Amino acid sequence: MLSTIQKIATKLSPRIIEIRRHVHSHPELSGQEYQTAAYISGVLSSCGFHVQEMVGKTGVVAELKGETPPNQDVLAIRADMDALPIVEKTDLPFVSKSPGIMHACGHDAHTAVGLGTAMVLAELVNSSEQLFPSTTRFLFQPAEETSQGAKWMIEDGVMQDVAAIFGLHVFPSIPAGVIGLRQGALTAAADDLEIVISGESGHGARPHEAIDAIWIAAQVITQLQQSISRTINPLHPAVITIGQISGGRAPNVIADQVRLTGTVRSLHADTHALLPEWIERIATDVCHLHGATCTVNYRRRCTSVLNDPDLTQLVADCASEALGSDRIQWIADASMGAEDFANYTSLTRGTMFRLGVGFAGRHNYSLHHSQFEIDETALISGVVTMAYSAYRYWQSGNGETGNGETGNDRLDR
Ligand code: NI
Repeated sequence: MLSTIQKIATKLSPRIIEIRRHVHSHPELSGQEYQTAAYISGVLSSCGFHVQEMVGKTGVVAELKGETPPNQDVLAIRADMDALPIVEKTDLPFVSKSPGIMHACGHDAHTAVGLGTAMVLAELVNSSEQLFPSTTRFLFQPAEETSQGAKWMIEDGVMQDVAAIFGLHVFPSIPAGVIGLRQGALTAAADDLEIVISGESGHGARPHEAIDAIWIAAQVITQLQQSISRTINPLHPAVITIGQISGGRAPNVIADQVRLTGTVRSLHADTHALLPEWIERIATDVCHLHGATCTVNYRRRCTSVLNDPDLTQLVADCASEALGSDRIQWIADASMGAEDFANYTSLTRGTMFRLGVGFAGRHNYSLHHSQFEIDETALISGVVTMAYSAYRYWQSGNGETGNGETGNDRLDR
């Protein structure tokens, strides 16, 4: 069956590249993916799918029906489709036609691989005249970059009856056609932080008559960064970055208010759980020590993507068989970056793999860079890996590979 999948994917390859280029040249920002959604919907409809639009605001859902009515143990395959507010600086013939918006995170490739996988599986089912045991549901999700899209989709019920979910993200530092895998945590939990410090204004020449919010803000930042090393388990990483600071009214006026905003990242559930209270206590204590007050707004954004060991092994086995054993790469360290695929893996077991898109022998710009590009030969590797993993998932019952022990050994939550 692998060779049939490869044959169909190879035949569809020019179409998949065409799709990626179309999406790339028509990027849309998070939550505004109207044209992208219409385009995806058109492609799916032309392949015979019944398509649901406006799911999770601008999302699109299509299903490949299986033998079991009604839906049970659905397998979901997710692709995100939003772009970034970046001015594209590539020389590609299909460069962005929307000024100031660019597919610099590869979600154009994710869309193309998602559609390619849907097309391959549909053709496989048609040609073999044999349905999969249950429904395969394709999710085209908006607004991943703002960590909102997955939540919107879930609120609209896309995870109903889902027993497992697959996803991927392109990665320029992995060579094109190589699949990167990790069991357990793949990405970090990411939260938003805002601290507003209130002191008392006064003349810049007479600090003793005022409460200097800028000086206190500096203490809060320093104290947070120093305390991490003494109070958070060093084996359970945590990162606090204050990315914005604003306050003060004039050079000779002591500031009465400072606002700090930042991002907080962690990999382990225990650290993630204690961070809000820990940050609030430090900020409040430092402020009180110097006679100021503060308010701390901590907003949970998304948790860590936790890759199910068995499903990850299944994808590894499939990629190894389809692309070659030298084409898989076990990722040693989780990323401190965030990915809202975590919203799905917090509801059901799932796995997200990295699709290498790096060019051989030339510099590869990072994700979110204005010159980010992908080696398009990787698209077919992504489609074959995803389609074959879905096929094997259905063949094996529910993705159990029978080597759970190995999986658990690698599990690093
Ligand atoms: Ni992304």
